[in-house]
Amino acid sequence: MGRKKYLIVMAAGSGTRMGAEKPKQFIELGGKAVLQMTIEKFLKACPGIKVVTVLPEAHMEYWKAYCIDRNFSCPQTLVKGGITRFHSVQNALAKVPEGALVAVHDGVRPLISVEFIREMFEKAEAKPALIPVLPCVDTMKVLVRKGDELVTAEGQSVDRSVLYGAQTPQIFYSEILKDAYLQPFDTSFTDDASVVLKNGKNLSYLIGERFNIKLTTKDDLILAGAILSLSPSPCDASSR
Ligand code: C5P
Repeated sequence: MGRKKYLIVMAAGSGTRMGAEKPKQFIELGGKAVLQMTIEKFLKACPGIKVVTVLPEAHMEYWKAYCIDRNFSCPQTLVKGGITRFHSVQNALAKVPEGALVAVHDGVRPLISVEFIREMFEKAEAKPALIPVLPCVDTMKVLVRKGDELVTAEGQSVDRSVLYGAQTPQIFYSEILKDAYLQPFDTSFTDDASVVLKNGKNLSYLIGERFNIKLTTKDDLILAGAILSLSPSPCDASSR
C-alpha cells in the first residue's frame, strides 16, 4: 500500500497583478471558481486525497459560503495564509503528518490534466521530491532596472538549453518537506523545490504540461477561457 496522499492548495495570494476586485483564485471561469476547478482535478485524479486549502484570512468566510452555495462539499482543512508563499506553506504543513505524499499546488493552476496528476503521484511513490518542469522556449535576457529603463546586466549570458521553468504540483515525502520548512525564510524560496534543495536534498524532475499555466494576469484569464471553450478540452488529456 502506498503513502497517504495530501494536497496543499495554495490560494492565499492577494492577486494584485490581476488588478481584479477579488483575488484571482475566486474568479469564475465558465461559471466555476478557479480554486474549485483546481481542487476538483485532484479529487478526480486521487479520490480520497486529503485537501488542505490555504486562504487569505480576509476570504475564509467568503470561501466557506461559496462552497455551501455551490454544493461543493469536498472535506477541506482551511488554513490561514502567511506573509509570503513560504509562510503559507509552513502553516499548511502543520496539518500534514509524516509518512505521507504531499503535493503542493498553486490554486491558480486549474488547467492541469487529471492524467498528469495521476502520473505525478505514481512516480512520486519512488521519488522523495518530484518537480514538474518545462524547457524554456524563449531566449532569456538578464536585465536590470535603471530608473525607468531596462538595461543589459554586466557580464551576464544565459545558455537557454539548461533553463527550465518550474511548475506545480511539486510532490514530496512529507517528512522531507516538513524538515525543509524548519529553515529560516530566504528570499530565494519562490517554490517548494528551492526550499528542499537548500536543505541538502536531491530533486527529481518530470516534464510538465504546457497548459498548466499559473493564472497571473488578465491575459491569462482570457487564454484560460479560450482553452476551456475548446471541445474536446485539451485539458482532459496531457498537453505534453
Ligand atoms: O505569488 P505567486 O504567483 O508565486 O503565488 C503562487 C501561489 O501561491 C498562488 O496560488 C497564491 O495564491 C499562493 N500564495 C499563498 N500565500 C502567499 C502568497 C502566494 O498561498 N502569501
